[in-house]
Amino acid sequence: MAELLKQQATPQEILRGTFERFETNRVSISFSGAEDVVLIDMAHKMLGGQTPVFSLDTGRLHNETYIFLDKVSDHYNIQIDVMFPDKTNVENLVKEKGLFSFYKEDHQECCSIRKIEPLKRKLETVDAWITGQRKDQSVTRSALPHEQIDTAFSTPDHKLIKFNPLANWTSTEVWNYIRDNQVPYNPLHDQGFLSIGCQPCTRPIGPGQHEREGRWWWEGSEDKECGLHSQNTDIPQPVRVIR
Ligand code: ADX
Ligand code: SF4
Repeated sequence: MAELLKQQATPQEILRGTFERFETNRVSISFSGAEDVVLIDMAHKMLGGQTPVFSLDTGRLHNETYIFLDKVSDHYNIQIDVMFPDKTNVENLVKEKGLFSFYKEDHQECCSIRKIEPLKRKLETVDAWITGQRKDQSVTRSALPHEQIDTAFSTPDHKLIKFNPLANWTSTEVWNYIRDNQVPYNPLHDQGFLSIGCQPCTRPIGPGQHEREGRWWWEGSEDKECGLHSQNTDIPQPVRVIR
């Protein structure tokens, strides 16, 4: 019954509960896209300028995304904790494999250096993080709960909780919220981009295509987790789509 109630909770209720359980310096919203600004907007209505937010700058984002990050910071008058990859790791990767190794191999090594290592460093400083993941974003996310132990980044000495307040929301609900609340969004969305990651690994999609088809399009739909949410691929999935 409690689990059922939890699954029916609104994103605002989940956020409020999260900020009651964790001090704002021990929890953070991971921000890169449209869903995340919805969460920032909701949290800002509760916490104002104390809203804790971080972003992973891989060094390969679109210029529009950099402008958007700055715009969100100004709009809400919040400081975004921007995390950068270890420079030696990036230099070694590029020296050894060039700037586009992900097209020749797969995206895992580059994502691990540019996203996962800085994410790990950030997550060591908090007890919980909040993501904008939705169930219908990907076959790998179809069983996504509102709250889970982060099995990928917890350690024996440090239990980490991951909240996904928008797990049950659709893309339409996200965009209705953005319009109704005049939330800033990345202008790339007006150019056919739905799910936006790094520039070389993201492309616009056509009518009828699933949003995830614009990400790492040279790989299968079940491989499309970069490691941030790798635990999604450990959960038995009720629906598997092979294409
Ligand atoms: S990804 O793992 O495939 O890149 P996706 O773009 O779907 O993730 O975003 C899902 C959630 O992961 C976002 O709502 C956000 O919480 C988090 N996220 C993704 N990319 C970043 C990033 N560069 N910085 C911070 N958080 C991110
Ligand atoms: Fe590298 Fe592409 Fe992953 Fe960005 S999304 S870190 S460019 S492989």
